[in-house]
Amino acid sequence: MKGFFYPVVCILAFLSLLWGTFQALQFLRPKPLLTQEQESFSVPLGLPPLPWPANNPYDKAKAELGRLLYFDKRLSSDGTVSCATCHSIQAAFADHQAVSQGIDGRQGSRNSPTVINSAYHNFLFWDGRADSLEAQCKGPLANRKEMTLAQSPDDAHRECQERIRKIPGYKKLFKSVYGNDDCSIDDIAKAIATFERTILSGNSPYDRYIVNKDKSAMSAEAIHGLTVFKRSGCANCHVEPLFADDRFTNIGIGMDAKEPDLGRYAITHNQADWGAFKIPTLRDVEHTFPYMHDGSLKTLEEVVEYYNQGGIPNSNLHPLMRPLNLSESDKKALVKFLQSLSGEGWQIQEPSKFPD
Ligand code: HEC
Ligand code: HEC
Repeated sequence: MKGFFYPVVCILAFLSLLWGTFQALQFLRPKPLLTQEQESFSVPLGLPPLPWPANNPYDKAKAELGRLLYFDKRLSSDGTVSCATCHSIQAAFADHQAVSQGIDGRQGSRNSPTVINSAYHNFLFWDGRADSLEAQCKGPLANRKEMTLAQSPDDAHRECQERIRKIPGYKKLFKSVYGNDDCSIDDIAKAIATFERTILSGNSPYDRYIVNKDKSAMSAEAIHGLTVFKRSGCANCHVEPLFADDRFTNIGIGMDAKEPDLGRYAITHNQADWGAFKIPTLRDVEHTFPYMHDGSLKTLEEVVEYYNQGGIPNSNLHPLMRPLNLSESDKKALVKFLQSLSGEGWQIQEPSKFPD
């Protein structure tokens, strides 16, 4: 027995010594530098991990190039309009006008939605007609009411590329990010989309209350507002944690107009989509007034009153839209709750200088 026991103990001791040495060496070895693929962007409290697309992964220099392009008016035909004209930092990446003014003072027909947290949306625009930020970005660049005077989308994109290509400072940046200085419309869109994916809002009082279980993060009134939000059906559509959804529903907005905007229906021609719009995010909603696709409601109090009355009747009104009979204190609490969704991550600086 003894003759068998000692060799086993010796082998075990030797193995554990080997293992210990190995661990120590691991510890001493310098940490490998992050490769570009691994480098990622950290999200504020309460938000899911960012879904970076495989064909446009995060890269710091690309995001910085995107920031410059986003705020640069030279992307428009006459140098007067940038993305930030209608999605400004001051308006939490939306616009305080009911419908935005683009090139030449031309007005569009819809309210500008916030870019905040748009990284998480699978559909973009009120009617969901774009399926990625890259695709979305090419829209305003070719829209004659937004950023171009060109006759066709192809002309618009070509002219935009040429304007950027004429700026040596940009050529240099494109070369270092993409390895070529074509300044192609696809590369412009990829850079802007990368920047947009870094415009986030989390770590709000609500997140600190829910995720950190910090009971003092929200007031008693806002906490009551959260229960009103759930019992009134709001949470069925504005789904946590983004308080948005990839579904399209008809809540009656604009349905009393002579020729109402039919929203998603114009894209799918599916009867269920008649008058339906994308369920927008409610994060930082207190800063993005006025509200709804047509900018018809000016304050959160007006929005709450709109829901309280059950919405504008029409043949496709969602069944959750019905009179809510909220008390005055319920309504106030609901607004306080919506304000507790204001967070951090998007309060960035505009570039002070552009490439030349
Ligand atoms: C003239 C105003 C204007 C300009 C300039 C503009 N946008 Fe917009 N943006 C809008 C409006 C209005 C909508 C909604 C249009 C719709 O739904 O049909 C929108 C929608 C969006 C959305 C979709 C958000 C969502 O949740 O669906 C994103 C993202 C966006 N714009 C980014 C940009 C970028 C990037 C640029 C610059 C390349 C830009 N916008 C330029 C007015 C503008
Ligand atoms: C049936 C789904 C549904 C329900 C229920 C619902 N919403 Fe909405 N909400 C939407 C849609 C869709 C829009 C955009 C509608 C439009 O512009 O035509 C919207 C827009 C909003 C907006 C404006 C956001 C912006 O950026 O313009 C606020 C604020 C809002 N909802 C809060 C609430 C509250 C509070 C409740 C509960 C009382 C609620 N919602 C219930 C689907 C819903």
